[in-house]
Amino acid sequence: MTMWTDEHQSQIRSKLLGEGSGDLIRYMLQKNMKVEIDGISAGAIQSAVELGWIDETNQEITPAGSMVADSCREYSFWLERDKVLPFEGAAPHLTASYFEDRIVMEVGPGMGANLMSLAKAGSQVLGVEPIEAYAKMGRVFAEREGLRSPDIQYGRAEALPFPDSKLDIVLCVTSHQYFDIHRALTEIFRVLRPGGELIIVGATLWSYCSNNIGFVTDSFGLARAYALTVINTGSYTFFGKRIVPARHGNISTSRPIYPSRAAMRRWLTGAGLIECSPDCKVGAETCFHYIKP
Ligand SMILES: C[S@@+](CC[C@H](N)C(=O)[O-])C[C@H]1O[C@@H](n2cnc3c(N)ncnc32)[C@H](O)[C@@H]1O
Repeated sequence: MTMWTDEHQSQIRSKLLGEGSGDLIRYMLQKNMKVEIDGISAGAIQSAVELGWIDETNQEITPAGSMVADSCREYSFWLERDKVLPFEGAAPHLTASYFEDRIVMEVGPGMGANLMSLAKAGSQVLGVEPIEAYAKMGRVFAEREGLRSPDIQYGRAEALPFPDSKLDIVLCVTSHQYFDIHRALTEIFRVLRPGGELIIVGATLWSYCSNNIGFVTDSFGLARAYALTVINTGSYTFFGKRIVPARHGNISTSRPIYPSRAAMRRWLTGAGLIECSPDCKVGAETCFHYIKP
């Protein structure tokens, strides 16, 4: 089944807004987290099969279902944290009120959980997302919450679909690791108005290595993914290119890189941005806050 025809979108909408939708979302979350399926009605499981999210023969998640399941996980986490930003209050510029009454564009918003928190706090929110399924799921979740759909456009950080010098704030939350960062920073600089700010929250090489080194011994697959990420980070840092390309062509999150803080600072200033406040730790991530002069 083609997933995102208008007809399919309307089926998804009616299942996710109708009776039993809580169970359907929980079911996809449990599938995503690979935990034992618990407390889910037979009707919700049947709906997931009918929507093409679960393979009827083996009860495995389908490729289309995996995008949906990612979105259900992000939505569920957002509900669990009382609908606020994941880093709310970690620094003065990481509170929803800081973004109030400003035009904020998130690059790589996924299903738009951060944008929903910011919209609730009174920002005008926009997004650019290369995975259409995430953006479409976001529309349905916003409707579930009685919020206006965030305006998430299909696109990529390296070619932002916005005119020059319009945006007050560009936000990247755990997404910069997938970009061609040099091209993305040039684009972000272009779309920010003078005095506009860039806020990036994400892991750096050090936090990535220290958080994952323990898992390397768990399986060959994890060790390989870890090694490829470190190799790609090194090659991007020194040669501006990932040696190991992403799987499935352009639109893929399969090959992240985690530049060091020093490299990020160098690249941000190289793109013409000026430090607005010092880097700060946000849990295991780092926040970079820069301004366009
Ligand atoms: C880990 S998710 C983070 C989603 C969201 N920012 C959040 O905090 O929940 C990374 C997001 O970056 C998006 N992404 C990957 N490559 C991108 C690119 N080149 N340009 C823009 N977004 C990209 C992915 O599709 C995904 O939605």
